[in-house]
Amino acid sequence: MHPRTRLALAGQQTDGAYNSIVPPLYQSAIFRFEDLGQTKGFDYTRSGNPTRKALEDVLADLEGGAGAAALTSGMAAVSTTLALFDADAHFLCSHDCYGGTERLFCHLRDQGKLDVSFVDLTDPETLSDAIRPETRAIWVETPSNPLLRIVDLEAVATVARAHGLTLIVDNTFLSPIRQQPLALGADLVVYSTTKYINGHSDVVGGAVIARTETLNEQLQFAANAHGTIAQPFDCWLVLRGLKTLPLRMKQHEENARAVAHFLAQHPNVETVFYPGLPSHEGHEVAARQQQGFGGMVSFAVRGGEAVVNHLLRSTKVFSLAESLGGVESLIEHPATMSHASMRPEQRAAAGITDAVVRLSVGIENIDDLLADLAQALDGPTQAALSGDGVAGEVVPYVV
Ligand SMILES: Cc1ncc(COP(=O)(O)O)c(C=O)c1O
Repeated sequence: MHPRTRLALAGQQTDGAYNSIVPPLYQSAIFRFEDLGQTKGFDYTRSGNPTRKALEDVLADLEGGAGAAALTSGMAAVSTTLALFDADAHFLCSHDCYGGTERLFCHLRDQGKLDVSFVDLTDPETLSDAIRPETRAIWVETPSNPLLRIVDLEAVATVARAHGLTLIVDNTFLSPIRQQPLALGADLVVYSTTKYINGHSDVVGGAVIARTETLNEQLQFAANAHGTIAQPFDCWLVLRGLKTLPLRMKQHEENARAVAHFLAQHPNVETVFYPGLPSHEGHEVAARQQQGFGGMVSFAVRGGEAVVNHLLRSTKVFSLAESLGGVESLIEHPATMSHASMRPEQRAAAGITDAVVRLSVGIENIDDLLADLAQALDGPTQAALSGDGVAGEVVPYVV
């Protein structure tokens, strides 16, 4: 069946008691034993829960993986994945990954629990040069956060296979509806389900999907041993959100395309980062490996801090907020918000300047979105020139 059909029916067969159409919520920490050593499949929710299992089965099915673990946040998905490796493992990681991922890698490196090199994975030569004898895995974020750089997953998978490395892909920005990393050669797929997968900004969650049974067993062990599992109610909400993922994604993309074109012709915009634009350096690869270009648009603002600050303070439909992938449109400033946790030198290396603004384009009416951006971008030049209080330092807010 088509993924849209599979998602609409997701979890429907899980209620053996009453055949409920909506998957039941088993908000229970414990399950009674039938007899000594005999259960109905579940004993304690950290080790397993039917509602969590229903979500994990849907995610594994969508990705074509052997199994999935639903976890308590996207960062729990990152940390549980890193826990699969020995302490002497060296990782190669996208140089412009999510700031929290960079922070965790650096923290674990400083504790002597792993080693990491941040490299521009869009360049296959840089990748091969960075591989060391102790390298165990490649961590790719594509499209990357916030500059939406595109990494050719098949090309990286070829290098990974040749060197016996595990390929891990953070697919948060696209969701399984727009990119299937396992089919392109990845071993593990990581998600912050907080974003498009849940899509309603009411759950913080994560997931990892494993290609093989062996990796899935290791993953389930790590999730249980570290206790990073997702709670039943959160899983129930994510399952509900997933059912409309294809429809939401379609609208996000339609709006994002229009926003990108609008920004590309605006005098106060220096550069637009949107893989759907033919001018984007990763456009061709994105068109090949993705089924759409996603709903995220970043851009560099022309005119300096005053114009950036005015824009961030003036939108009315786009809320100034950190996250992404929900039905509502958001605007944020990576340097002081989502990527404030990244070391300044790493931010500079990744090209995340103070001029970059990131939009999570929601599913609202496009005319309202464009009018909102127009009034926020058109106003500042005059205001900045007359110095009427739009400038001023933005205080970093670290999540
Ligand atoms: C690409 C990516 N991966 C992982 C995370 C972490 O997810 P969470 O905030 O759910 O812990 C984020 C959060 O923004 C993200 O953008």
